[in-house]
Amino acid sequence: MSNRPLNVGLVGGGKGAFIVHPHQKAIHFDGTRRVVAGALFPDPKIALEEAANWPYPIKGYGSYDEMIKANATLPEAEKLDYILIVTPNFVHYDPAMKAMKAGIAVFCEKPLCLNLKEANDLVKASRKLNVPFCVAHTYLGHWTSRLSRYIVRSGLLGDIRWVDSYYIQGWLATKLEATGQQQATWRVDPKRAGGSGCGGDIGTHALMQLRYVTGLEISQLSAQLETFVEGRMLDDHFTIYCKLNNGARALVRASQVCIGHKNDLGIEVAGTKGTLRWRQEDPECVTIHLPNQPDRVYWRGAVSAGDGFLPKDMPADLLAEPTIPAGHPEAFHDAFARLHRCFEADVRKWKDGKAFDTDGAKYATVADGWSGIAFIETCVKSSQKKGAWTNMPKGI
Ligand SMILES: NC(=O)c1ccc[n+]([C@@H]2O[C@H](COP(=O)([O-])OP(=O)(O)OC[C@H]3O[C@@H](n4cnc5c(N)ncnc54)[C@H](O)[C@@H]3O)[C@@H](O)[C@H]2O)c1
Repeated sequence: MSNRPLNVGLVGGGKGAFIVHPHQKAIHFDGTRRVVAGALFPDPKIALEEAANWPYPIKGYGSYDEMIKANATLPEAEKLDYILIVTPNFVHYDPAMKAMKAGIAVFCEKPLCLNLKEANDLVKASRKLNVPFCVAHTYLGHWTSRLSRYIVRSGLLGDIRWVDSYYIQGWLATKLEATGQQQATWRVDPKRAGGSGCGGDIGTHALMQLRYVTGLEISQLSAQLETFVEGRMLDDHFTIYCKLNNGARALVRASQVCIGHKNDLGIEVAGTKGTLRWRQEDPECVTIHLPNQPDRVYWRGAVSAGDGFLPKDMPADLLAEPTIPAGHPEAFHDAFARLHRCFEADVRKWKDGKAFDTDGAKYATVADGWSGIAFIETCVKSSQKKGAWTNMPKGI
């Protein structure tokens, strides 16, 4: 394809919506992608008004069905290259499936969808139709997550024994949904959020961080899904003890009721030679603990290969990925931008009829999204049986 910017269509994002805003900034980050259209709200009239009031000109549609159908009639240079789905979880499956069938790539928010049946269908369709599909597990986009993955997967910490992967928040410590707060109301409703509230919303991020950094999979788990706020329909506290496929153990935990915690996502990986620690609220560095040595703190953009811990032959693309010099901090928006940038590279390859990556090294794929849904369903089953050890389904 030509080097014109990729055209992105939004599904969701009108009237006080949250996550569309970091995404749309990330889309425009490099000048090589732009938002050109949107079906921003379920009510067609409001959807059009919201599009007319968007901060820069976009083509508004009354519904995503209309936007996807209209795409077929547009000249090549105006066609959507991918859609971004930023609706509540119950409106992920349908637009994703329709876009793939219309030959449009999909960048979908997490969790992938509502249940394993939908997840199976989406994986099968993306494979059959050969369409690039990213699931927005934001924190994979931090350069320091990339470095953590390299350190753990290249065996620098020895054999992995223990992983603690967590996402702790406090914003739902009271019954916020009773006030009508937009982001809270659908997140505590099983019909719109899925089988687990806290687990689906943020436990899936903790799971993905574990899988991305370590390359290990959960084989069995024992889950406790708890609801501390009276009258809430879904869990707001989520604690999962896991057996990993290399024999290691892990805790994947999440909470929405720990007052004071904001977006406290992090991971600790303990191996036979050392331990790695990383937190997204402090995302510019990774700390390595080695026995009888001072701690090593690796800052994004200031890493030297062959320093006595990191090997000389570190991958050049890993070292090249930061966008600005160390000390000018990257954060949440940069992580989103890195995901969109890597997805763009695959969409361009796909448009040129070339093979694109589906290995999950640069962003979470639809198969990773499937793992998140399989995890949630297994956790719900185990918790209903008072934490009985339950097998995770094998991958798809
Ligand atoms: N990756 C992350 O870090 C992250 C962070 C927050 C939210 N999320 C995910 O993003 C999604 C949206 O979350 P949010 O907090 O932004 O929700 P939100 O309630 O703030 O926004 C949802 C938007 O979708 C719109 N919408 C609903 N149904 C629609 C339809 N049929 N057609 C068009 N628009 C429709 C709503 O009007 C609203 O504009 C969820 O799946 C959530 O899990 C991910």
